[in-house]
Order: sequence, then C-alpha cells, then structure tokens
Amino acid sequence: MTTLILLSLALCLVLPHASLAQQGLGEPWVAQRRLGYRSQCQLERLTALEPTRRVPSEAGFTEYFDQYNEQFQCAGVAAQRRTIQPKGLLLPSFSNAPTLTYIVQGSGITGTVIPGCPETFQSPQQGFEQQLEEEVAGQSQQFRDEHQRIQFFREGDVIALPAGVAHWCYNNGEVPVVTITVSDPSSNANQLDRQHREFLLAGREKRSQEESAETEERFRQHMGKNLLSGFELELLAEALGVDKQVVRRVQSQNDNRGEIVRVERGLQVLQPSRRSTEQEAQEQEREEREQAQESRECPYQSNGLEEAYCTLKNKQNIGNPVRADFYNPRAGRLTTLNSQKLPILRFIQLSAEKGVLRRNAIIAPHWRINAHSVIYALTGSCRMQVVGHRGRTVFDGELRQGQLVVVPQHHVVIKKAQSEQFEWITFNTHENAIANHVVGKTSSLRGLPVEVLMNSYNISREEARRLKFNRGNEMFIFSPRFEREQQSNNVLKTVTEN
Ligand SMILES: *[C@@H]1O[C@H](CO)[C@@H](O)[C@H](O)[C@H]1NC(C)=O
Repeated sequence: MTTLILLSLALCLVLPHASLAQQGLGEPWVAQRRLGYRSQCQLERLTALEPTRRVPSEAGFTEYFDQYNEQFQCAGVAAQRRTIQPKGLLLPSFSNAPTLTYIVQGSGITGTVIPGCPETFQSPQQGFEQQLEEEVAGQSQQFRDEHQRIQFFREGDVIALPAGVAHWCYNNGEVPVVTITVSDPSSNANQLDRQHREFLLAGREKRSQEESAETEERFRQHMGKNLLSGFELELLAEALGVDKQVVRRVQSQNDNRGEIVRVERGLQVLQPSRRSTEQEAQEQEREEREQAQESRECPYQSNGLEEAYCTLKNKQNIGNPVRADFYNPRAGRLTTLNSQKLPILRFIQLSAEKGVLRRNAIIAPHWRINAHSVIYALTGSCRMQVVGHRGRTVFDGELRQGQLVVVPQHHVVIKKAQSEQFEWITFNTHENAIANHVVGKTSSLRGLPVEVLMNSYNISREEARRLKFNRGNEMFIFSPRFEREQQSNNVLKTVTEN
C-alpha cells in the first residue's frame, strides 16, 4: 500500500536530472511523432498479449499481435513475430512504418534496398559468379551481378528499417531464425493512416485454413497479394522489359509458397566472408564512436539522403553481455540502444533496451518521460505491476516468455524475476527514451531533500533517510537482498501460526 502511495506521489515530482546526463540528449523533451493524433490511452486494464493471427508459409510463419487491441492503439504501434526455417528466404517487402526488429534466435543475412544508394556489392569479372554461371546450362554469356549492401545478423542484433525501404532476409544457419518486430505507423514517416501495412514485392500471403471470413476482413491490411500482381500483364511486361511468361511468375499468380520460401540449394549471393565481417564489426564500432562523438558536437548536420542513409549503420548487437550499460552481478544487466549509439534511430524515432534479471531481482520502479514502451518477454517470466494515473493498478500479474505488454508513457512499472533468469526486450517510441526512477541512485526520491520526504509522508528523519538511501547505491537493477529478511519473517509467521 505504501508503495502505491509512494509511486503515485512520486509521479508528480522532480526532473530526471542525472538520467539525462547519463543517457545522452537527443531532444528528450520533444516528441516528434503523433502530435496530431489523439490516441486512446484511457486504459483501465493492461493484459499480457500473445499473437492472435498466424500466417504460414512454405519455410516459416508470421504471427501478428492484434493491432486493434487498445494497448497497441494507445501506443500507436504494431508488433509481429516471425519464424524463418533454415534455408528460408523472406521475400522482399516494405512497410508503411519505420520498424525495429530484434533477433531472438538464429543468424542469417539481410539486405535493404534504399533508393539512390549505389550497388556497392559487385561481382568480379571472373570467379564466384562464373561458378554460378556454369550451373546454368548452355549459358556461355558472361554475367555480372551487383546489388546493395548485405549484412550478417545474429541473435541479439537490433535492425532498424525506415518506412518504405524494401528488405529481404535469409536464414543461412542451422536453427530457425526468430524475430520480434515493432513498427510505428504513428510516425510522421507514414502519411497513410495508423494501420500497419506491409507491401510485398514478391510472393503472396498464404491463407490459413482455420480463418473465418470475418477475421479475414479484420486483418485485410496485412500483405495479401504482391504489389506487382495488381498491374495488367501486358503493361507490366512492357514496363519491366521481359516477356509475359516471366511476368506471370513475377505476379505470383499460381504461387502458393507464401512470403517465406525455401531455397533448396541454399542462397548464393555476394557476401563478405565471415571473418572479414568480424573485423568489419570492430571497425564499425570505432566508426560508431566517432560518429556518436560527431553527432554530439553538431547533432543536426546532414549531407543529404546518401550521407544520411546509404552509409549509416542500421544494426547493433545488444545481446552480448559485454555491451551492457548497467551491470550488477547479483541482479542482472541492462543494455540500451538509442540514437547516440545507432544514429539511424534519429530517423526511426524508436529505441530499444535489452534486460536480464536473475531470480527475485527487481527492476526499480520507473516511468518513461517521453515514450510508450512495448515489453516482450524473451525467456523466463516475471511478476509485474503497472500503475497509472491516480494510482490505479492497471496490470498486476505475470509476463511469460513470448508475451508482450504495452506500457503507456508515464505509467510506473516494477518487474521482479520469477524464473532463474528473466530476459526481455523493450521497444520505446522515442529515439532516446528516458526513464525516471522512483528510488535508487539518480532517482526521484534521491533528488528530494530529507525534510520534504519527512513532511510528504509524515515520517521521521531516520525513516526518511532510509527511504532515500537504502537502495541508495544501486541503480535501476536491484539485487534480491531483502529476500533473507522476508524468509525469516515467513518462518516466524509459520512458527507463531503453529
Ligand atoms: C503523523 O505521524 C504521527 C506520529 O507517527 C501521528 O501521531 C500522526 O497522527 C500522523 N499524522 C497523520 C496526518 O497521519
């Protein structure tokens, strides 16, 4: 009870002074998105959500969370989870919204096609392509391929994609690739409506048998047929400069493989070797630091589209423990990803945070001052409470692996790990989401004079000191140190009851 009073009182106090300094700026007070929208955030109750629709394909499936659910409506975002089997190719598509994808499992390669960017991957005159060529019988003609950049990805990576940018993805590993994606149709980049839509450049969505006509109607915004199938055959043939036979294939008229197809022989594309990618990663890290340095010095300098997009890194690993920003060996770790670490997020206006908690460890009660959060449980489970305006408890329950909760801005959250290890990923609707903590180092309570606490809560000086400093040296992640105390209390209780 006291906690609740504490929380609701703390809601109206104190600036997040220290957090700002630590997490870096990037216009934390300015929300560039959804200013014109009146979103529906009169939420009485939050629930742990699971996907409501599953779309199967030949080599995998996509699971959609219901974007009409009021939690998603409030945050103005949509979410989906995708599974790509080994040798599965996710066909090229784009979306009307910027997206952030977290690689939950597996590894593979991905390519984006950004208008105006050069095809920097070019095959040499001889060699690799020639081998490929030899497999195509009877073709003696020399053929050279070139295409835009391809990147490796692996578990723990976050990949950012601007709206309208076509991309594809291939699983070249041994295990299924599993991804969770949050897209932001409320972004100014999207000028349609607030529905998340995907546009296929190839293939067509496979219908699942169990669906009724009603749900079909409700989910019509997802994909459907590929874009090119909407054009008249002859006109398209002329526009593409190929014969009608090919155009029929391009339109996927009789293709029933869905959006993820199996590549039997494995995908042969130009790609840097593994080893050089590792080296590249180190190099990129150095560049990244320099870039971040630069962006601190002159944050809004941009040299046009090419400078802005073509060379910008759009991927960063936050799964690796070495990259943790906050680490407490007895409690867990937090790794944040904002526009300072990955400048493309300035265009995307989303950021992410990966967290790991050990059993019974606690994430300090906090609220986001400038963003909604989408929390997705990766492994294990946690006890979670969310308190909104006027101290109303809007969520009190469990969040388990594979479930998702949307926490609206300014709602206060506490998470406590129930399993041996609880891991989650949070997507925030701001390039540099800032949390304001109730207690702990750099927290609201810490920022208040003892006298204010004494009078606010009608407590003694000593109690106020304890309130302020008991969690005083821990930051954001609290170890389960009150556990033993509680256990002995329980023992006492059972003894007296008996
Ligand atoms: C404040 O605390 C004192 C002593 O603990 C108590 O006697 C008093 O009734 C409290 N006042 C209120 C308004 O709760």
